[in-house]
Amino acid sequence: MSDLNTAQAEAKAESRVFYPPAAFVANAAIPSMDAYNALCKEAEQDYEGFWARLARENLHWHKDFSTTLDESTAPMYKWFEDGLLNVSYNCLDVNLQNGNADKVAVIFEADSGEVSKVTYKDLHAKVCQFANGLKSLGISKGDRVVIYMPMSVEGIVAMQACARIGATHSVVFGGFSAKSLQERIVDVGAVAVITADEQVRGGKHLPLKSIVDEALNLGDCEKVKSVVIYKRTGGNINLADGRDVWMHDLVATQSAVCEPEWVSAEHPLFILYTSGSTGKPKGVQHSSGGYLLWAILTMKWTFDIKPSDVFWCTADIGWVTGHTYITYGPLAAGATEIVFEGVPTFPNAGRFWSMIEKHKATIFYTAPTAIRSLIKAADGDASIHPDKFDLSSLRLLGSVGEPINPEAWMWYYNNIGRGNCPVVDTFWQTETGGHMMTPLPGATPMVPGSCTLPLPGIMSAIVDETGYDLPNGQGGILVVKRPWPSMIRTIWGDPDRFKKSYFPEEFGGNVYLAGDGAIRNKDTGYFTITGRIDDVLNVSGHRMGTMEIESALVANPLVAEAAVVGKPDDTTGEAICAFVVLKRTRPTGDEAKQIATELRNWVAKEIGPIAKPKEIRFGDNLPKTRSGKIMRRLLRVLAKGEEITQDISTLENPAILEQLKQAQ
Ligand code: WT7
Repeated sequence: MSDLNTAQAEAKAESRVFYPPAAFVANAAIPSMDAYNALCKEAEQDYEGFWARLARENLHWHKDFSTTLDESTAPMYKWFEDGLLNVSYNCLDVNLQNGNADKVAVIFEADSGEVSKVTYKDLHAKVCQFANGLKSLGISKGDRVVIYMPMSVEGIVAMQACARIGATHSVVFGGFSAKSLQERIVDVGAVAVITADEQVRGGKHLPLKSIVDEALNLGDCEKVKSVVIYKRTGGNINLADGRDVWMHDLVATQSAVCEPEWVSAEHPLFILYTSGSTGKPKGVQHSSGGYLLWAILTMKWTFDIKPSDVFWCTADIGWVTGHTYITYGPLAAGATEIVFEGVPTFPNAGRFWSMIEKHKATIFYTAPTAIRSLIKAADGDASIHPDKFDLSSLRLLGSVGEPINPEAWMWYYNNIGRGNCPVVDTFWQTETGGHMMTPLPGATPMVPGSCTLPLPGIMSAIVDETGYDLPNGQGGILVVKRPWPSMIRTIWGDPDRFKKSYFPEEFGGNVYLAGDGAIRNKDTGYFTITGRIDDVLNVSGHRMGTMEIESALVANPLVAEAAVVGKPDDTTGEAICAFVVLKRTRPTGDEAKQIATELRNWVAKEIGPIAKPKEIRFGDNLPKTRSGKIMRRLLRVLAKGEEITQDISTLENPAILEQLKQAQ
């Protein structure tokens, strides 16, 4: 737990406090700590009553539920199970009834800068037509559909259309390789894949459809009967007879009326793959009712969403942030949102700021990695510095995906928020469905680098390795002590792994283990996340399992053994560092460089470019204990370029450390 203690010192060092601006407080949904505490108290006094009240007030139920929480199948908890609803109905039809028909739902800005707008009425019609199109292909409730699409209105339509007919979607991020895509198609048992001819980012075209073809040709994909293609660029593609169909052809003859499929609140809305500490990625399964409830509630509580807001979450729909805060939350809350196809650095690193100015964004939600790289860019080029743009429309800023270092927080607060906007540092995970800990913008005094306090109803705590509560000021393991509506339901096809990963026996089997370390401030009780306690890395806010990268490396015929660790990186948070033993003699100089490049490209092909190691070091061996276990903690020290001061008495081959010290 040495890392936890370092973080302890850092958490203590930060003493700046920033209060919610008075103008914000005046109209906030939760306008004081008293109001926050009242909600927490309500949850503590009558946990089920609290959630039942919120579920009835915030969602449209086709049939009301009679049981709020069913713990009989713990840790597979069930929420609102006999209630019937439809997620797309709640996101679209409800808005048509509420007078939002002509309100802009999505402002889409293409990579090229071209802008188009879609109203709630338009979006409803598109979703219904596409839902009917999917039905015409024989897709129905309970089927799984893989979505491999660029950031687009059509991507949202595809997800919402699945929800409308009760099909469970599994979105795969466009940056994953054919092999990763195939593994997910097979694991989830998809009957259809929805994709685009090409994706355009930073002026570059990526051939999504041909990657889908490659994935399906890798085998075991016989269940896939249809591939639907959204025409984004008109780039050349192959159309397989009887299997492939253009999205525009599929919807051309479809009615814009589609009765929603009323499903149980527990019906799986989606399965999203994420990296774990061991083995292949896990298919995180989410529900319909509990998930949507938290999506809409966190839009109200964390983002204080108002009818006049222009909300912009810069995530991709391939990650959970895009699911909850692009496809579902903003629409369920009746907001206008910006959807952006491109990258923050094209045509230049002022793109985000110019888009905020152009579309008068009021709420901006992005990742610390993006902030850090844009700080660097602004320092190097005054013409794209945020002070060159009119950002006065902004009233709230958010951060997500990884710890935000206090320097980046201050820059964001001062240069983007101009000292007038609260910053919500939202801690959560793919598994949690929505925010878990975050300041409330109209209530919580903010401390840079701290996600502050849990949302009402979320019972976060810090325990030691045996599950005992730790006092404030002592670093430990982050857990959640009670189930909550938007939590992961299971790992698709692997309930045992679900139990072992999240509700391990060591902790009594009844608390949710987040996989992160955390510490609470002695005086304020504020939480600071100290990083993963398992073999999971966070690179640019993307979660990567070290074992996954190691497996990819050893699959290369040149490689005998590989160990992957993270090392701190100024821009990406963590960077991937691989220690590799080849089957042949250890390469040096230019040859080492050349083989490292080869291996990097290999990993990009096996997993995706996001998993490419930043650094590869070759050794004759790896540091191991007498029983042959690789001592990763020593590799972490070497990767950082630090001297080893830890106990190495269990190390069998200390001489290897000298060799691995040098970056090649
Ligand atoms: C892991 C989850 C949050 C949704 C997108 C990423 C880290 C996330 C924060 C934060 C410190 C954070 C944790 C967590 N993380 N947000 N505000 N402060 N760390 O979801 O890919 O499932 O990753 O990201 O380590 O466990 P994910």
